Amino acid sequence: MNFACNEPLIVQEVAPRDGLQIEKKWVETADKIALIDGLSTCGFTRIEAGSFVSPKAIPALRDGEAVFKGIARAADTIYVALVPNVKGAERAINAQANELNLVMSASQTHNRANMRMSCESSLAGFGDIVRLASPHASLNATVATAFGCPFEGRIDEERVISIARAYRELGITGISLADTTGMANPRQVARLVTRVLEHVPAADLTLHFHNTRGLGLANVLAAYHAGARRFDAALGGLGGCPFAPGASGNICTEDLVNMCDEMGIPTGIDLAKLIMLSRTLPALVDHDVPGQVAKAGRNCDLHPVPRDIKA
Ligand code: COA
Ligand code: ZN
Repeated sequence: MNFACNEPLIVQEVAPRDGLQIEKKWVETADKIALIDGLSTCGFTRIEAGSFVSPKAIPALRDGEAVFKGIARAADTIYVALVPNVKGAERAINAQANELNLVMSASQTHNRANMRMSCESSLAGFGDIVRLASPHASLNATVATAFGCPFEGRIDEERVISIARAYRELGITGISLADTTGMANPRQVARLVTRVLEHVPAADLTLHFHNTRGLGLANVLAAYHAGARRFDAALGGLGGCPFAPGASGNICTEDLVNMCDEMGIPTGIDLAKLIMLSRTLPALVDHDVPGQVAKAGRNCDLHPVPRDIKA
């Protein structure tokens, strides 16, 4: 690894979508809007603000239209919407999402569990979405379960590469590799990122890690040093796919930004603001959240020296 590299790392905040989709407590539309507006002041250039999926599949995000209508859009921020099918794309375009994030799993079994269709049907729908969306919004497509599937186990690298190629051939410029249930390890990540960048060089590559087995930030470093520059992360480490057994939170945004700050890797994100916003999450979702830096504070947040310590 080249620890001397300090090229900027772009963080896409996904708490309003991946973070809230799995929450049991209903988060009011106004509170979702306030969360996104708070995030918009922290310096993100990309925020995944919601999804336009079946309200039966993800009831927690059924108010996507009202959320997109209510947010105050920062001038330089791209507001992304996750969509599974043409109907979702139409809804997202009407809601003026700047980018659509299409999702299909590398694993047939997980795609059927999550999207209720085969990978072939998902891809056929993506072709229609590209034709529909291209004048209105940019496009990203995610390969979910790219590093392992909770039903099928190991996923062949060749399959991930061929899906990434298929996305590019459809005219989709952004490609995300998602570790849906935290099965990736740093060596695997370095290898797959290197190979995808070789085979699909024109793509804007994003890595989407979950911290389910504690390897999230190690995987970020492995991907960054292999050449990836875009990463998804969720405030507080919220998140998870309700259709993947054992799913848990995304890598935590403030933990990621803290690591980058300490290492001298620029992100453009205001960590102090982020921590303050993260500390509002337990009240919003009614439980503790996994993020660590919001609890510990930054390294520079020093404590008073105890009086009984001698000089
Ligand atoms: N937005 C709103 N409603 C939608 C929709 C969308 N994008 N897509 C389908 N629907 C509605 C249909 O209109 C239909 O409604 P009706 O019962 O009132 O007639 C119903 O959902 C079933 O439609 P169908 O096309 O048969 O969908 P399905 O039941 O096979 O489910 C998906 C397929 C893709 C819509 C569903 O599995 C889904 O939304 N998955 C997303 C899961 C997710 O977000 N996971 C986490 C993120 S990776
Ligand atoms: Zn995810």
